[in-house]
Amino acid sequence: MNSIALCPGSFDPITSGHLDVIERAASLYRKIIVGVAVNPLKKPLFSVDKRLEMAKTAIAEYCPDMEIIVDVFDSLLIDFARKHEASVIIKGLRAVTDFEHEFQMAQLNQVMAPDIETIFLMAHSKFTYLSSSAIKEIASYGGDVEGLVPKNVEISLREHFSS
Ligand code: PNS
Repeated sequence: MNSIALCPGSFDPITSGHLDVIERAASLYRKIIVGVAVNPLKKPLFSVDKRLEMAKTAIAEYCPDMEIIVDVFDSLLIDFARKHEASVIIKGLRAVTDFEHEFQMAQLNQVMAPDIETIFLMAHSKFTYLSSSAIKEIASYGGDVEGLVPKNVEISLREHFSS
């Protein structure tokens, strides 16, 4: 069995919920690739370089001593998985509302790449309500996001919305 798994996302920005899924994925697979999608259609708040930097810093601090590589991609997910020789895509599922979209993406990826399996990890109950969109909204009004995002992201959000 291949032991490389890919955890993809927009990570705009990375949250404590993402870190939880990445850490748990890293305990199941020998090597994890965290793929930060360029995703211009989603009109991200942070540039891809900033999202990459935030993810790298947070993962280095919160998941030390684990084999986790963080890289940007601007292609089909399955092509990025192949580039890194990952045979598994791991996504977090928070609630039923996530299911339809994730199910559609997983099935499309399965049609295009039957050799790559998608596996879902249920979000920790602490983070089921958490989303990058909600974080951005709270931070944009000066609300407190401590504990919901890693410390470096908290600082980046404060800098972004105070400038
Ligand atoms: O964090 P997100 O926004 O839910 O992540 C979505 C992501 C980046 C995993 C998804 O948009 C994606 O896989 N993009 C790459 C393009 C692609 O492969 N599309 C076909 C599958 S539907």
